[in-house]
Amino acid sequence: MTTSRFLKACRREPVDATPVWFMRQAGRYMAEYRALRERHSLLEICRIPDLATEVTLQPVRRMEVDAAILFSDLLLPLEPMGLPFDFVKGEGPQLEKPIETPADIDGLRTFEPREALGHVLDAIRQIQHELAGRVPLIGFAGAPFTLASYAIEGGHSNNFARTKALMYGHADAWHALCEKFATIVSDYLGAQIEAGVDAVQVFDSWVGTLSAADYREFALPHTQRIFQSVGGRVPTIHFGTGTATILAELSEAGGDVIGVDWRIPIDTAWQRIGDDRAVQGNLDPTVLLGPSHRMFSQTDDILARVGGRPGHIFNLGHGILPSTPVEHVQMLAQYVHSSSRRRR
Ligand code: CP3
Repeated sequence: MTTSRFLKACRREPVDATPVWFMRQAGRYMAEYRALRERHSLLEICRIPDLATEVTLQPVRRMEVDAAILFSDLLLPLEPMGLPFDFVKGEGPQLEKPIETPADIDGLRTFEPREALGHVLDAIRQIQHELAGRVPLIGFAGAPFTLASYAIEGGHSNNFARTKALMYGHADAWHALCEKFATIVSDYLGAQIEAGVDAVQVFDSWVGTLSAADYREFALPHTQRIFQSVGGRVPTIHFGTGTATILAELSEAGGDVIGVDWRIPIDTAWQRIGDDRAVQGNLDPTVLLGPSHRMFSQTDDILARVGGRPGHIFNLGHGILPSTPVEHVQMLAQYVHSSSRRRR
């Protein structure tokens, strides 16, 4: 397993071809996922290890991907903290009672992930058994800023006004909230590693809404604590979107691999991140909608900018969109392998 292309690239070792996997590689763009979703809710798939295993393996069977990612959701830790939620069709997650005041934060519980989220750990063991070493398995969790944004907004937000109002207006309560998240996420990722994941990705999907100074003050210390806690055990990936202006700070918080989106050329991003890290990215997911010649030319542009440097993992800048043709995803994975081989 340690000889896998993906894990080698995480360690910046040379590889025969650029490893590739896709955020949201399991999901609505695949007919077999949609068929399962007709019978089960998203939360059921997350909670029943047989179903989570099946969905995790669906893209591995169909695509030349070099890693599997655990099928789960970023928000699962919210419920055992005392923040129940559901997924509403067409609208995404909705919390029953989002955080409004510092007193709401005092009332949140920490919990033992081996009990409250034991089903996720069971799914990891089952997936590893079925993968049988074919490709490594990536576990994941959310970073404190992104988790806090869902806990406070109650769902998706465009401007994060409530989140920032609490952050600026009640800085002590904000830090207390993020400390809770950092403790929970460190424990939860530690438990995922014990259960057998080969790497972990920390998603700070919405942190690009912060200035560099605010990132340093309100997010960096908490995310850094997570990487200090889990780093060195398995490779770690630190991902965010809209982060072009805060890549140096994001890298300082930690991660063996830094994920970058499409808003910045990958070579410019790598300069800001530094030579001592691997980089994951960074094709715009909308390019997969077509035409395919553009998907290939943009992929070649990314590979040319990387120029064969060890430590590149090909991915999209964010998740695959539900309207993406499955053949495009298949062709893209193959193309990354063949085109990067030709360049070696
Ligand atoms: O990448 C994978 O294949 C693994 C599965 C995965 C899911 N969620 C399943 C899912 C992962 C890695 C996540 C992480 C996640 N969840 C993030 C961080 C990644 C990112 O996209 O930035 C976030 C912000 C969430 C919270 C969340 N879950 C939202 C905002 C939504 C609704 C958005 C949407 O696409 O509808 C979800 C639902 C969700 N989680 C789906 C999937 C496959 C949608 C599919 C469905 O409804 O069946």
